[in-house]
Amino acid sequence: MFAGFANVWTPLLPARRVRRQPVRVVVAGEAVVLFRGSDGAPAVLIDRCPHRGAALSAGKVGADGCIECPFHGWRFGPNGDNCRVPLNPDAKRHLLGATALPTRQFGDLIWVHTGVADAPPEPDVPEGLVAAGLARTWVMRRWHCHWTRAMENMLDSPHLPFVHRRTIGRTMRRRMRLDSTLDVRWEETPCGGRAYSSLDGQESAAFLEFFRPNMMVLNIPIPGKHLRIHALVIPEATGWTRLIIVGSRDFARFCLLDPWFAWMNARIADEDKRVVESAGCGEVPPAADEHSVATDRATLQFRKYYYQVLRPSRA
Ligand code: FES
Ligand SMILES: [Fe+2]
Repeated sequence: MFAGFANVWTPLLPARRVRRQPVRVVVAGEAVVLFRGSDGAPAVLIDRCPHRGAALSAGKVGADGCIECPFHGWRFGPNGDNCRVPLNPDAKRHLLGATALPTRQFGDLIWVHTGVADAPPEPDVPEGLVAAGLARTWVMRRWHCHWTRAMENMLDSPHLPFVHRRTIGRTMRRRMRLDSTLDVRWEETPCGGRAYSSLDGQESAAFLEFFRPNMMVLNIPIPGKHLRIHALVIPEATGWTRLIIVGSRDFARFCLLDPWFAWMNARIADEDKRVVESAGCGEVPPAADEHSVATDRATLQFRKYYYQVLRPSRA
């Protein structure tokens, strides 16, 4: 299960999209079904009935919070326990459960652990997703690419003055000369790392933060204010990636301004999409298979983590 993306916490969907009735989502090649139990807590099961493999997501959730398989009516609780096998009163139900995945709700997102054993109790959640008093905007996108290409794009600063020349790369583009040098500095953190950059010796107050396995936070400097863009890069089926872009801010919180902030984040993401999809659907290759330079420091750090830890993983 979850080959190449196993035993990690990942955000999956905005919490408001998960109601009582089942929702089917594909993550790292595995279909899972999300629903809410009778207490309202989110649940995630592998979307495959252990009886004959029917998709549980095609069934219904009853008032007791159990999901019923549409084929022969077996019922499963939020923890995967088998609650009923119709017409078979003597069935050994304790051996007939579905596979449940550790699930949490934080920062208006549903998180799932891609492995049933040894899950750390909670994911590492960036502060901008959970802190009180912030306005947040949400943008959802689907890109036709391997998720590692999308993730590297999010950690890459030297593309800003080219891909985003009219948006977040405008200032850098104006300051760039033909002989300019960009220094990228990588600092390890307990959750991943931070990439700082300086152009011709002048350090930028903006920095990128990587949260393993698949999140980037762009900290945009406005003195005394909080303005961040979170890119959550979720592997879906082969060659497809789902993106959730969450903007957070502690100013201009009037909700009528949300569409403008969301529009700007969508515009930036759509600028990236064209370029990232043009590289094809394959995963990022080993570092030696592409030419790299000093400004690729942050993306190479991700590539090292991917090849050493994530790619060999399976649950
Ligand atoms: S396939 Fe699910 S109950 Fe038979
Ligand atoms: Fe970009």
